[in-house]
Amino acid sequence: MTSPRPAVRDSFLPFSRPTIGEEEVAELLDCVRSGWLTSGPKVEQFTSQFAAYVGARHAAALSSATAGLHLALLAHGIGAGDEVITTPLTFAATLNVIELVGAVPVLADIDRHTLQIRVDEVARAIGPRTRAVIPVHCVGQPVDLDPLLALARAHNLVVIEDAAHAVGTEYKGRRIGTFPTTREFSFHPNKNITTGAGGMLVTDDEDVLSRVIELRFHGMQRDAWKRFDKEASPRYDIARPGYKYNMMDLQAALGIHQLPRLDGFIEARRRLADRYQAAFQDLDALIVPEAVAYPARHAWHLYTPLVRLDALTIDRDRFMRELKARNIGVGLHYTAAHEFSYYRDRYGWCPEDYPDAHFVSERILSLPLFPTLSGAEQDDVIAAVRDIAQRSAR
Ligand SMILES: Cc1ncc(COP(=O)(O)O)c(C=O)c1O
Repeated sequence: MTSPRPAVRDSFLPFSRPTIGEEEVAELLDCVRSGWLTSGPKVEQFTSQFAAYVGARHAAALSSATAGLHLALLAHGIGAGDEVITTPLTFAATLNVIELVGAVPVLADIDRHTLQIRVDEVARAIGPRTRAVIPVHCVGQPVDLDPLLALARAHNLVVIEDAAHAVGTEYKGRRIGTFPTTREFSFHPNKNITTGAGGMLVTDDEDVLSRVIELRFHGMQRDAWKRFDKEASPRYDIARPGYKYNMMDLQAALGIHQLPRLDGFIEARRRLADRYQAAFQDLDALIVPEAVAYPARHAWHLYTPLVRLDALTIDRDRFMRELKARNIGVGLHYTAAHEFSYYRDRYGWCPEDYPDAHFVSERILSLPLFPTLSGAEQDDVIAAVRDIAQRSAR
């Protein structure tokens, strides 16, 4: 029987919380005390550590993944008149940077079960102006890269992997980061490892790397920060104007100690996700996340069930409000990009143009998932979800 009043936690449980240890704190203090806060030796250390982890030849540390996606497009010479294919189920940054370089985003629908962009939809979206594809490894599972890369090769398209969710994700036994594309990772505080804010662009192409390095810091050449060394000249040249997209040592200080802990973080996330899956399996109110059909390691960046609208008297937004009323934090990843007013107005996109993305966009929510989520906290989430489901059953 439904109790008259729902159980409410004493304190608010966020949907995400970074796991920062004593090593990170000590490194941060070391950085502060060193007197060198901006890009410097800690960024160099984190960059080579990260390149080694993902098995890439080159990496460039940046202020965010958004900056990395922006520079990746510029470094590949993508701009006015070009079309770039991507998914509607992504963070706004993926589409925004396409607009910001003057190119046109073209959408390819997702698979509503796995949330990943569909390669047959990408194929359908290719036209004479298509220059690039930005697949997003959504929520920590990989896109089906083999057929996507084959398609891109056949049409001579640049592939920029938006790997913001995919630090530690594997596709057919290989880490995301090892495939021959330009790839971009995020270290935003809700990601699998964090530098406060930050991103890493990874490439095997020397030319792409040198353009990114030039553009990330005003247009100055490689290792511009070394101009303050005793032996170095403070003079520099600007061959073309750039941005201020560099990562700081203050940020890298966290990354240096987060990266070795990544596999442990993912294992903790997986255990928690398994527990959610078991707890919600029998619940009519939710469609639990589905695994991709090819071999993969899910990095469990997010735990994103869909609300089953036909089994409930409330919609997804009300479901989220009910969770918050019970002091449970919740995320929304994502409202499909083609439903934002800017994109709707500019391209005349309707929700139904991408039916699977629209289906997901109306139903998805992110439940709390982070390595230090305790069993008792997770029990509170499960109890709250079950309580809402029971009270709102159709
Ligand atoms: C899919 C996706 N792409 C890009 C970004 C941008 O990352 P950042 O916050 O590091 O700029 C995010 C961040 O949430 C994301 O989820």
